[in-house]
Amino acid sequence: ARVDKAGYKHFMAKEIAEQPTVLQGALAHYINHDGTAITLPEPGLDFAKIERFSMVACGTAFYACLVAKYWFEQLAGIPVEVDVASEFRYREPPVTPGTVALFVSQSGETADTLAALRYMEGKAAKIVSVVNVPESSIARESDLPLPILAGTEIGVASTKAFTCQLTTLAILALQAAQARGRITDAELADKLANLRALPGVLNLALAVESKASELSRKLAEARDILFLGRGAMYPLALEGALKLKEISYIHAEAYASGELKHGPIALVDKHVPVIVMAPRDALFDKTVSNMQEVMARGGKVLLITDQKGAAEAGDGVWNTILMPEIDPFLAPILYAVPAQLLAYHTAIAKGTDVDQPRNLAKSVTVE
Ligand code: G6P
Repeated sequence: ARVDKAGYKHFMAKEIAEQPTVLQGALAHYINHDGTAITLPEPGLDFAKIERFSMVACGTAFYACLVAKYWFEQLAGIPVEVDVASEFRYREPPVTPGTVALFVSQSGETADTLAALRYMEGKAAKIVSVVNVPESSIARESDLPLPILAGTEIGVASTKAFTCQLTTLAILALQAAQARGRITDAELADKLANLRALPGVLNLALAVESKASELSRKLAEARDILFLGRGAMYPLALEGALKLKEISYIHAEAYASGELKHGPIALVDKHVPVIVMAPRDALFDKTVSNMQEVMARGGKVLLITDQKGAAEAGDGVWNTILMPEIDPFLAPILYAVPAQLLAYHTAIAKGTDVDQPRNLAKSVTVE
C-alpha cells in the first residue's frame, strides 16, 4: 500500500506521532496477551550458552546497539561489543566460539552491515538480526530475524524504527536475563508491565511538542550544540545530536556527561546550548555537577528530565523539558521522543527539507 502523510506536514512528523501505535504492535508480537511471557520466533536462542554478543550497525541503528549493550550487560550479564559496520568489516576481528552476531538495520539493505553479516557467516557465528523490512537481505540471511514492526519509514531521519529497535532489543535482553536466571519472575513481570505501559507514556511525552517547538526557535540560532547523557542515556545524547545534524545542519556533538571536562567544556560559552538528557536515576547527582560546570561558564543548559530531576537540578538551567517518570531501564526509549521533536522543530525553524535532507539517503546500499 502507498504510504501518505495522513494529514501531517512531513513524513517525519507522522512517524514521530505514530510511535505509540507501532510500539504497541511490536509489544503484542513478542509478549503474550496477559503480559507474563516473551515469545521469540523459532529457532530461538540458547541464552545460557551465549558468551558474547557482537553487535554491528550504522547510523541510528548503531546507537540502538549502544543502548542495548547496557541492557544485555546489566540485565543478562552478557558481554557485548558494538561496532559500526564500516569499521568492523575491515578490521577482521577474531570471533570466539560462543559469540552471537547481532545486526540492527531498519532497511536490512545497508551495504556495510550486510558485508559484516557475511563476514560473521564466514566465521560460522550464529546470526541474529533486528530489522524493519522482513524480506530484506539482512533478514533473509539471518538465522533468527526479529522484526521490529515499525511499518514503512519514509523520513530519512529514523524515528519510529529507532524506538521499535530499542523495544525489540529490550525484550531480547529481558528474555536473556530470564533464561540465564538473572531476574526473578516477579522482576520480569514488573519489567514487562512497564514495557506494556510504554505506548501510553510515549503519548504523554508527545505532549511536549509545543514546548519543543518554542525552544527550537532559539536552538535554530546556534552554530554548535552539545548533547550530554550518562549510562544508557549517553547513546541517546548521540542520537539527539545525529538527528539534529541530519535535518537542521547545525553542528551538534554528544559526550558522555563525565567526559565533559576532558575536552568539550572548552567549547562552552553563552552561545552554545547544552542539552542534557537525564532522568532522575541513580547517577543524577553526578550529572547535576556536570551541568553546574557548564553553567559556571555561561553555557545555556536545556535539561530534559522528570519532575524529581527538575526539582533536584536547582537554579540556573536555561530551560527544562519535563518527561513522565519511568523505569530507568526504559528511559532511553522515552527520551528519544523529545530528541526527535527538538530536531524536527529546529529544522522547521531553519526551513530545511526535513524528509529529504541534503546529501543523505534513507538506505545506503553502496559503500
Ligand atoms: C542511513 C540513514 C539513517 C540510518 C542508517 C542505517 O544513514 O539515513 O537514518 O540510521 O542509514 O540504516 P539501516 O537501514 O541499516 O538502519
